[in-house]
Amino acid sequence: MLETLKPETESREYPLELTGLEDPIHMWRRLIAYLGLEDENAIVAMRRTSETLLRDAADFVVGAYDYLASFDETASILGWEQEMDEEHLEERRQFFATWMARAIGVDLSDEFARYLFDAGILHAGHGPRGIHTPPQWVMGAISMVQAHFAERILHYGHDRELAAVAIGAWDKYLMLQNYQMLAGYQVALKVDDGPLTATVKLYGKLQAMAELEEQTVHFHSDETLGDVLRKFFNYHPVLREEFFEVAWRAPEDEVEATWATDFEKVYVPRQGPYWRILLNGKEVRYSGGFDQPLKQGDVIALFPPGR
Ligand code: HEM
Repeated sequence: MLETLKPETESREYPLELTGLEDPIHMWRRLIAYLGLEDENAIVAMRRTSETLLRDAADFVVGAYDYLASFDETASILGWEQEMDEEHLEERRQFFATWMARAIGVDLSDEFARYLFDAGILHAGHGPRGIHTPPQWVMGAISMVQAHFAERILHYGHDRELAAVAIGAWDKYLMLQNYQMLAGYQVALKVDDGPLTATVKLYGKLQAMAELEEQTVHFHSDETLGDVLRKFFNYHPVLREEFFEVAWRAPEDEVEATWATDFEKVYVPRQGPYWRILLNGKEVRYSGGFDQPLKQGDVIALFPPGR
């Protein structure tokens, strides 16, 4: 009897589950496996041509920006239609030289994957200069690097067999990088998609991890808090690890899971002292969960345990 008198809201706890989150590092590793870039022969062949490629990398970097400045669309993206901004040119050349050195060194690390993912985010107009570089121009630049590598390797006169394996492997590796940047670019576009906006405020160590205190996330009127959080955590895969861990869920009608069961990847809050997610000051775990609608100007706050 007493049970029925208890207000329903008092003890209601909403399951906080997010599906549909992308894991760019996992995909990077899977693509490395898929492309056969774990193969010793491929890696050795690339490394044996690295010195050749490094030899005139500096000239290539200078030439690349002269070319981007001479081509209408890329010159306009960089704001160099009238003249090149020397300071900006210097900045871009430096970044490109850093990237070239890492690429020629056949960097397959998770850290490089994050760097490329972040570069894709910057290309979506999310960098300090707010310049939007559509992906076809990045893809074009990657293919020019590929062509340059192939030309240099053949020009140097490497053994034919080695040259064939190396050129093939460089192609795959550069395509992998192109994909990784595209993945970052796409998550950034989603954060900007929709006429309405919510603000996500970060507290505690999240600020240092994300290097920001708050972020505006756009959404459509039919999108929920969960949809906005999905966009946010896809943009910040590292922050997601703080909040969630992965659980695998069998489809509801599956009575007994077998090897053929199509499990769904679900992100559930980590156990133990947990981070709190507040919507306009109310902890969503006890108030509405992730399925609730949002309205213009809503504030989502992410708090560390104990705050
Ligand atoms: C080989 C292809 C490319 C790669 C690997 C690449 C990679 C990167 C990386 C790593 C960054 C971040 C730099 C940093 O802060 O360390 C970056 C930023 C940037 N990239 Fe690219 N990029 C490529 C092609 C292009 C092209 C073709 C353009 C323009 C036409 C471009 C324009 C920019 C701009 C403007 C930024 C900085 C954005 C800002 O400061 O607001 N990139 N790129």
